[in-house]
Amino acid sequence: MSSAHSAHLGRVLCIITGASRGFGRTVAREVSGLVKPGSVLVLAARSGDDLRSLQAELTESEAGRAGLRVESVVADMAQMEGIEKVVRSSEEAFSEHIDHLILVNNAGAVNFPFLRLVTQMNLSSAAKVSLGLPFLGWSSPSLGDVSRSVKTFTDMAEVDSYLSLNVSSSMCLTARVLQSFPQRPGLRRTIVNVTSLCALQPFRSWVLYCTGKAAREMMFRVLAEEEPDLRVLNYSPGPLDTAMQVEARTRTADDSIRKSFVDMFDQGQLLTCEASCAKLMKLLLEDNYTSGAHIDVYDV
Ligand SMILES: NC(=O)c1ccc[n+]([C@@H]2O[C@H](COP(=O)([O-])OP(=O)(O)OC[C@H]3O[C@@H](n4cnc5c(N)ncnc54)[C@H](OP(=O)(O)O)[C@@H]3O)[C@@H](O)[C@H]2O)c1
Repeated sequence: MSSAHSAHLGRVLCIITGASRGFGRTVAREVSGLVKPGSVLVLAARSGDDLRSLQAELTESEAGRAGLRVESVVADMAQMEGIEKVVRSSEEAFSEHIDHLILVNNAGAVNFPFLRLVTQMNLSSAAKVSLGLPFLGWSSPSLGDVSRSVKTFTDMAEVDSYLSLNVSSSMCLTARVLQSFPQRPGLRRTIVNVTSLCALQPFRSWVLYCTGKAAREMMFRVLAEEEPDLRVLNYSPGPLDTAMQVEARTRTADDSIRKSFVDMFDQGQLLTCEASCAKLMKLLLEDNYTSGAHIDVYDV
């Protein structure tokens, strides 16, 4: 741990899941401006067009022209195959000049059978919008089904599916990345988990999301205990003005919880991804948080 505030993150290999939109996309942009030439960003999500447009944008940016390499990996992180694809691309992109490995576990995943089917159809963004999918939860898959209460979840396969995608996938990706890039002199390793207040506090009708976030955060806390050389950060980005909040406002079953999301939106209390990401970058640059800690955007 260093206490001096660095102006850059080093010559990084930075892997970001869920980089196609929302917070992950912003993290990719912000990291790109804080790295030394020779760095590599590995951007993963299922939406290839959105990833490729970001890849083009960053490659043409000042950082890109100065030698930042950007790889987009179209991968379903819910599948072992998707995890392997990301790991393979990262291994290929790695060079011995890299001095900082950063893994940002940002993506969530859907468990609705209908939306899984649509995912397999690999629709374009325009087609998703024309089908109204953003308002059916398409665009905010990490929430799970918030239209129901705990007592309706009688199907073990459904619950397993959500947890598998939101907890197991993140654990296995992290483990694979740590195996591929073991501790060695001159290599810092930082693992970020994008967490939520829901990891700490119960929200009525958000049982899948709260359970997933709590389990996932504990997993990273255990990792921090086991691997003292790692820097592990559970960053809670606050209420972000992304597709996920649309779902929170429109589909949450519990009236008072739903109203609190509507009020936050109406009163302009949602944060931009840029504002929240700036706090995350500050934490990474200062690098003086306790490894494994849960840090909320409002505490930075
Ligand atoms: N928005 C909030 O208010 C808020 C608050 C606290 C915490 N968070 C957390 O912040 C993170 C980002 O949220 P967000 O609001 O930016 O969500 P979002 O706009 O819904 O974006 C989610 C991202 O995850 C990707 N993703 C979903 N399932 C995937 C899969 N199976 N494989 C690969 N990528 C997948 C999506 O890409 P594809 O669809 O292209 O695959 C997308 O890039 C999440 O972990 C969320 O829980 C959000």
